[in-house]
Amino acid sequence: MTLNLLLDCSNNEDKVNNLSENFIFNVVTETPVNEHFFAFKENGLNFFLSSNDTKPLHIDFLKGSMGWRLKRSDHEKLLKKTLGKSSESLCIFDGTAGLLSDTLIFLALGHKVIACEQSKILFILLLDAIERAKDQLPFMGNLKLLNGNSTECFKDYTNIDVIYLDPMYPEPKKNVLRSGNIARIKEILQIEMITDQGDDIFYEFKEYDFKKIILKRPIKSELLDSKFNYQIKGKSTRFDVYI
Ligand SMILES: C[S@@+](CC[C@H](N)C(=O)[O-])C[C@H]1O[C@@H](n2cnc3c(N)ncnc32)[C@H](O)[C@@H]1O
Repeated sequence: MTLNLLLDCSNNEDKVNNLSENFIFNVVTETPVNEHFFAFKENGLNFFLSSNDTKPLHIDFLKGSMGWRLKRSDHEKLLKKTLGKSSESLCIFDGTAGLLSDTLIFLALGHKVIACEQSKILFILLLDAIERAKDQLPFMGNLKLLNGNSTECFKDYTNIDVIYLDPMYPEPKKNVLRSGNIARIKEILQIEMITDQGDDIFYEFKEYDFKKIILKRPIKSELLDSKFNYQIKGKSTRFDVYI
């Protein structure tokens, strides 16, 4: 897969050089026609699905709904309940990092997180978002972000208290914003020729030695395994917990 990086006159050279040091890019000076590409804009790094893309994927933890949720992370009753009462900081392995929304809430609640995302494109966007936010979000120091298949990456770690899984939902969700981002993630996975495992990721993790698996599911979806220990239910989402 070729990763195009568009250099235009507004580019911050340091950032572009930094990115090119760590990843192999095809650096272009004109918008590639009919191709996907990264470009630095004033707000940071963006990923365009094509030259006609008017809504590039851009991750910002400090603005919008994520910024709002982080300012009041204490109100995240569902995720807090799902983790259970613990006075100690937990080590959470997020096997489906996505846009890192759930991971950021765990971090804001005082936990440590190892988050793994299979898409290199999302990983690069996340690194840029972390760099822009880290001074304002000191808990970022408790995050380790990995790029790869989480069922493989997990094998390198011990002492994980919680495995957190939020597999891609097969059916479209009602929440427009989220389904918009999910649709984009699906397109990105297609570009990278990654076949998403869907729910199978849960069965793979169940084969490992684990203390606790938290599986996020649409509220009305069937159980992937009827032997859960407890469930926490919200309006549209359910967390099935396996111990
Ligand atoms: C529904 S999204 C997760 C959203 C995330 N919980 C959030 O809060 O932003 C699922 C993500 O998991 C990733 N994923 C699925 N299976 C994976 C695997 N085996 N290893 C790494 N990432 C995986 C997908 O690429 C996708 O980005």
